[in-house]
Amino acid sequence: MNKPMNNDAQSLQVMAELSAATCLDDLYPVLHANRYTAGWHKKTPSLWKEPRKTYLPQHWRYREAKLAMDRAGEWISTELAERRNLLMFNPVEGNEYATARSIVSAYQMIKGKEYAKTHRHTPNALRLILDTKPGVFTVVNGVKLPMNPGDVLLTPNWSWHSHYNEGEANGYWIDFLDVPLVHLLEPMFFEVQEGDTQPVTSEPAQSEFAFPQAWAEAHLARMAPDAHGVRRLVLPTVQHMPSMHLAHALIPKGGRTGVSRSTAHRIFAVMKGKGSARIGEQEFHWEFGDTLVVPGWTHFEFSASEEALLFQVNDEPLMRMLGFYRQES
Ligand SMILES: [Fe+2]
Repeated sequence: MNKPMNNDAQSLQVMAELSAATCLDDLYPVLHANRYTAGWHKKTPSLWKEPRKTYLPQHWRYREAKLAMDRAGEWISTELAERRNLLMFNPVEGNEYATARSIVSAYQMIKGKEYAKTHRHTPNALRLILDTKPGVFTVVNGVKLPMNPGDVLLTPNWSWHSHYNEGEANGYWIDFLDVPLVHLLEPMFFEVQEGDTQPVTSEPAQSEFAFPQAWAEAHLARMAPDAHGVRRLVLPTVQHMPSMHLAHALIPKGGRTGVSRSTAHRIFAVMKGKGSARIGEQEFHWEFGDTLVVPGWTHFEFSASEEALLFQVNDEPLMRMLGFYRQES
């Protein structure tokens, strides 16, 4: 039990106990009781040679998540529509939430004629739309943005957002948020808007918060392929979301990305195509809608058995800002 050091009498007592010590073993309990750890005697190291393997390479299949959400939709009411999601937690000890160290991802489903309540929070969020029919849209700070398949839509730190499905068919997407980072640093704020629905103030043809798949593919077509034939595009979003990079990679049929690793934590989602991924010592076979995790400092390579478009969310800008980014290829 720690003793508060709040008066001179207690301090004199500590000094007396320290003075009475006849060996190091006498010192340790006095030090511990007064909230010191002896650096030469601590049980676990605080520095190590290179990043440890804590978070694990993982793969989640969209077809399984979709069925699970369809089943849950039989019982979960519209009032809980914004929580009809499946968080993908990385199965490491003590974790039931984060997908990668600093980022969480979740599959979400919205049924026809539903809306998810308007709210805002300090964590940055974005969505990759997988499967929707016309009539599904999100509203971000009053701006109405359609949610079409392949769209990447941002809801940055503290922006009001709500989702609507005016059609009949279920809509599906993947959410990505930097909540695990906010949990670590603790600047969490969250509030729900009174009245639930958000007034629409504009409906622009394009928005700095919306990146349709056709826009991404047009840009990718103009990018020079790298040595492996892969075209890459980092979305211009970091001014809105400084903690994360969002990027597309277009891998030709039979192509591969080449092996690399970096200190960034990465989550991939499959927008198009099929293939496999070697992540660390494991091999995964992926298809449309699947999600994969590449933990920091883990070698990885993606291979496409048919032309593939991958979407990636990673914490590379955060690592770079802090001087912690390293990579090998
Ligand atoms: Fe949200």
